[in-house]
Amino acid sequence: MTDSQFPQQPQRRCVLVCQHRSCLRNSSAEVLAAFQAIVPHGVFASGSECMGQCASGTTVRIMPDNFWYCRIQPSDVQTIVQQHLWGARPVESLLHPRFHPPTELHWGNVQKDRL
Ligand code: FES
Repeated sequence: MTDSQFPQQPQRRCVLVCQHRSCLRNSSAEVLAAFQAIVPHGVFASGSECMGQCASGTTVRIMPDNFWYCRIQPSDVQTIVQQHLWGARPVESLLHPRFHPPTELHWGNVQKDRL
């Protein structure tokens, strides 16, 4: 995907931020508040129940893209919003390796409809 193929407006998406015990101990309430403060129009940020990735919280999942982020801190939110939600380009360094193994990280080959 080239820069000229990025959408002008962010697609409708939902950003799920785990608000269960382990993630709460890793600043997930602050992560959710940071997303809710700056997500673009048409993107909904919501707390979620445990997503089963408790050892690597704060867990963030972006739907319908189905991209998983791990160990997210409030300071990461601006980068995810700018690069993933506005730029349609996942933040490779923050993706959860269980769902996005390093061999998958060739985003130039990602189908546009997956983003
Ligand atoms: S507590 Fe957040 S993924 Fe389980």
